[in-house]
Amino acid sequence: MNDIHTIRNSVLSRIKPTEAERSRLKALAESIIARINALGEAEGLNIKGELVGSSARGTWISGEHDLDIFIMFQPDVERKELEEKGLYIAKKIAKDSQSFEERYAEHPYIHAVFDGFEVDLVPAFKVERASEIKSAVDRTPFHNIYVASIIKGLEDEVLVLKQFLKGIGVYGSELKTQGFSGYLVELLIINYGSCVKVLEAACDWKSGITIDIEKHGTLVHKDPIIVVDPTDPARNVAAALSLDNMCIFMDRACEFLENPDEAYFSAKASEPLDDKSFNKLLKSRGTSLLAIEFAAPDVVEDVLFPQLYKVRESIHEMFERYDFHVYNKSVWAEKSAVLLFELESSKLPHVKRHVGPQVWSKEHAVAFKSKYTDSDTFSNVFIRDGRFMVEIPRKYDRAKKLVESEILNCALGKHLALSIRKEFHVLEDEEILSIRDEEFRKFLRKFFEK
Ligand code: UTP
Ligand code: MN
Ligand code: MN
Repeated sequence: MNDIHTIRNSVLSRIKPTEAERSRLKALAESIIARINALGEAEGLNIKGELVGSSARGTWISGEHDLDIFIMFQPDVERKELEEKGLYIAKKIAKDSQSFEERYAEHPYIHAVFDGFEVDLVPAFKVERASEIKSAVDRTPFHNIYVASIIKGLEDEVLVLKQFLKGIGVYGSELKTQGFSGYLVELLIINYGSCVKVLEAACDWKSGITIDIEKHGTLVHKDPIIVVDPTDPARNVAAALSLDNMCIFMDRACEFLENPDEAYFSAKASEPLDDKSFNKLLKSRGTSLLAIEFAAPDVVEDVLFPQLYKVRESIHEMFERYDFHVYNKSVWAEKSAVLLFELESSKLPHVKRHVGPQVWSKEHAVAFKSKYTDSDTFSNVFIRDGRFMVEIPRKYDRAKKLVESEILNCALGKHLALSIRKEFHVLEDEEILSIRDEEFRKFLRKFFEK
C-alpha cells in the first residue's frame, strides 16, 4: 500500500462524487438559478443566477455540499441598490430552504441550507473585465471562466490535492485558517500538471516563490508565496496563506514523497484533554497557563478571528513589556472566546531592577537620581557597568493582575472591545478546567501537542 499511485486511487475513490450525487447537486443548482431568473423578470430586474466555485468546476469533494450561486447585477447599478435588491431576492429564494441566515463579507449575502446542501446566495456585479471589479466577489465569475476552460481532465488531481491539504490541516482561505483556497489549489494543479508534481515542487519551494501562469504580474508582493491571479495581474491569489501553513505543506510534501502513506489524507481527530492529564502536563512542563475568557461577539469568523489574532499579539507585547515571557499563545472561539497564553512564569519577584542612564550623560543622570530618592525603593541609586540603577517595587508581579488591570489598554478591535468591556475572566492554571466544553478541551490538547 506504499505506492503513491495506489494511495492516490484509494483516496480518490473515497472523495470523488458519484454520478447520483453530481446530478442531485446539478438539479438543485438549476432549480435555484431558474427561480432567481424568474424572480428577476417578475420584479423587472436585469439579473441572472450563475453557479460558480468548485461545484461549477467539478472540483468539489464528495459529501461537501457547498453551492456558490451568484446573483449577477448590471455594473451600472448602485451598490446600495445591489445590496438591497440582492438581499431581497436571496431571501425570497431562501424562504423555501430548511434554514438560512444573513452573513457579511464585503457586502451582505445569504447562507441557506437546502436538502443538506449549503448554498451561498451572493449578489455581485457583472463587470466586463476582472480589472473593473466594483466588489471583491465580482472576481469569482472570472475565476470560473478561466479554470473551467483548462481544468478539464485534471479535476481528480484537484480533488486529491485538496484532500491532502485537508488531511494536514491547511485547507481553507478563511481568515481563521489562513490556508489554501480552492482556487489556489486549482491554479497549482494547472501550473504543475498533477498532485504529485505539486508535492514534488512544494518540497523544494523557497520563501518568495512566484508562480505567474499567464506571465502578466504587475506588482511586487511581499508574501511568502506569490501566485499571480490569471484573471487579475495585480492580485496574489495566495495572499491569505500564512508562512507557517505554507511551510507545513512543504514539510509534509517532502515527508509524504519520502514515505508515502494514506494517513496524510485524513485529518487526525484530537481527543479532549481531561483534567488529570492537564494537571500532569502543567506540572511536568513547569510553566504557567493563563486564559482570558469572554463572550464571543456575534459576527462572522472572517471578522472575529482577525480581531482575536490582533488582541493576542497586543497582549503578548504587554506581557513582555512587563517582563512576563510568553512561550506559546493561541485563540479559540465558539460561544465564548478564549485567549490562551503559556508563560515561563506567571509570578515575578516583587523587586525589579530598573536600569537608568550612563553615568556620563549628566542631564539624564541628574533627573534619574532625583527621581529615585524616596523611601519606597528597595535600594539606593547605585552604579553597575557604568550605569545608574535602582531596585524598585514591580507594578505587577502577577500576570493575572496585569491582565485584569490593563487589558482595556490593549488594541482590542471594535467587536472584542465591546464584549471584553462588558465582562471577562482571567483563569490561571487549574482554574482553566472550569471550561468544560469538549471542543475547547480538544483545542487544549492541540495547544500542547502542536
Ligand atoms: P469557496 O470558498 O466556496 O471556494 O469560494 P471553492 O473554490 O468553491 O472551494 P470549496 O470546494 O468550496 O472549498 C467560491 C469562489 O470564490 C472565490 C473563488 O473564485 C472560489 O472558487 N474565492 C473564494 C476567492 O477568490 N478567494 C477566496 O479566498 C475565497
Ligand atoms: Mn465552494
Ligand atoms: Mn462557498
